[in-house]
Amino acid sequence: MKRPLIAVLNGPNLNMLGMRQPEVYGRATLDDVEQICIQAAERLDVAIDFRQTNGEGELVSWVQECRNRAQGIVINPAAYGHTSIALLDALLAVELPVIEVHISNIHRREEFRHHTYCSRAAAGIICGLGVRGYAMALQAMTDMILDENDR
Ligand code: DQA
Repeated sequence: MKRPLIAVLNGPNLNMLGMRQPEVYGRATLDDVEQICIQAAERLDVAIDFRQTNGEGELVSWVQECRNRAQGIVINPAAYGHTSIALLDALLAVELPVIEVHISNIHRREEFRHHTYCSRAAAGIICGLGVRGYAMALQAMTDMILDENDR
C-alpha cells in the first residue's frame, strides 16, 4: 500500500525560527523542524510535504491542494490562526483531519493569541511543547489515518 501523505504547513514568520524571540520559540530553525518531521515520518512510515509561507493566500491555496492529494494536514498557522477566516474555511473545505501546532503555549501569552479560528477545524491542538510538538502531531495524525483506514 502507498504510504499516506501528510502535509506539514507553516505560516508567517516561521522562516525566522532560531533568530526570532528565542526565549519564546527556542533556538531550532525551520530547517531543524523539517529534519524533525522527516525523521518522524521515516519512523512512522508516512510521506510528508513540508512547506512554509508568509502569504495568507498561498497558505489557503496549499490547504486547498491537499484535497484528494494528502490524507491529513498538520498546520502551524502562526498568526493567521488568530486572524484568518479564509484559512479556517479552506481547512473545513478539504474534509481532511487537521492537527494544529503551536510551538509556544498560546494560552500563557497575550489575550489575542488565546483564540484561533483554525481550532474549529482541528481534531486536536498541540501547543507549548516546543518544536517536538510537530513530531507528536505526526504521530497522532498517523494513528488517526490508520484508524480511519481500518474501518
Ligand atoms: C505560533 C504562535 C502564534 O501566536 C504566533 O503568531 C506565531 C507562532 C507558535 O508556534 O507558537 O507566529 O504559532
